[in-house]
Amino acid sequence: MGKILVTGGAGFIGSHTCVEFLESGYEVVVLDNLSNSKEESLRRVEQITGKKVTFYKADMRDAAAMKQIFAENEIDAVVHFAGLKAVGESVEKPLEYYENNLNGTFVLLAAMREAGCKRFVFSSSATVYGMHNPVPYVEDMPTSATNPYGYTKVMIEQILHDCCNADPEFSVVALRYFNPIGAHKSGLIGEDPNGIPNNLLPYIGQVAVGKREQLSVFGNDYDTPDGTGVRDYIHVVDLAKGHVCAIEYAAGHKGFMPINLGTGNGISVLEMVEAYSKACGFPIKYRIAPRRAGDIATSYADASRAKELLGWEAHETLETMCEDSWRFMQRNPNGL
Ligand code: NAD
Ligand code: UFG
Repeated sequence: MGKILVTGGAGFIGSHTCVEFLESGYEVVVLDNLSNSKEESLRRVEQITGKKVTFYKADMRDAAAMKQIFAENEIDAVVHFAGLKAVGESVEKPLEYYENNLNGTFVLLAAMREAGCKRFVFSSSATVYGMHNPVPYVEDMPTSATNPYGYTKVMIEQILHDCCNADPEFSVVALRYFNPIGAHKSGLIGEDPNGIPNNLLPYIGQVAVGKREQLSVFGNDYDTPDGTGVRDYIHVVDLAKGHVCAIEYAAGHKGFMPINLGTGNGISVLEMVEAYSKACGFPIKYRIAPRRAGDIATSYADASRAKELLGWEAHETLETMCEDSWRFMQRNPNGL
């Protein structure tokens, strides 16, 4: 089937994606500096699949380490997750974000070129639709950003587009994720953020296990059915499967192709609180708080391109997303 280099493979989405590649018959090589993850997640990937992961604890900006990985492994394709991802922190530390996310990608692309590896799947984000496009978001809409993290995604997409123009043999799929949540059904891997969670689901999960007092709902005066923010939440296992489809698509198609990975359904914060309360069997405590700077009212995907080009669509429900997240939280209340 082939050997896939997964940068950032010890992280939340990366670890679930390693499982799907291994279960589809691929070999997996992971590069991760563990700045936002633990090696334990890879041991659990091996436990789930019964297969080995080759792991390099290294920084993607380290050109010598990157070169060594390509020299020691015949890499057929790369899935590039590694990067810093906290929106608020990116506003505080723009240089760190640009330096890590952009330089890391440059070093990776240079090593790929040297090794003659021409298949690439990039973790982009719905954040590239910016503040002004109408929903549902369609891939051909203009891209923009509102914070340094978002700009790294916009810029890397542009760089990859340019690389495809320069080399007609190069094949890139930029997967624009909506809001990944949930966890593997085994309860062994899931989302394990450092410190206070920025995102809704890990926060709710920590309230559910008693680590946080209550959820702050950031605004209930948006122009949405119940006034709270609406997002397109997608089960991380569905999302992970989309990467296997994208790698297979890239084998037969050259050039740059952005593709949304979402369900096409919008869920509000209060609907999510209710669904999670049902999954855990008791009410999640919350209060209404002021809006969070930079948030938009509504974001959801037009998911038709993924179905058309990749033959992929999401299958999990809001109910299973919450149940799987809750199972992981119960089994790992203090993380991995
Ligand atoms: P994560 O933080 O769990 O995973 C990212 C991994 O990259 C971590 O394991 C981290 O240690 C590693 N990493 C960071 N900098 C590195 C470096 N210089 N060298 C080597 N490894 C490095 O995050 P995630 O949620 O799994 O996200 C994966 C990708 O998907 C990221 O690029 C993120 O921007 C993108 N994305 C995530 C979301 C989301 O909501 N989770 C949404 C859209 C896009
Ligand atoms: N929210 C709360 N309370 C919280 C956390 C979030 O009410 O404690 C609300 C937000 O206001 C928003 C919704 O829950 O309405 C979802 O917020 P998240 O932070 O979970 O997700 P975002 O859609 O804001 O951001 C996510 C990723 C970003 C990415 C963006 C677009 O975290 O990296 O999707 O893809 F840029």
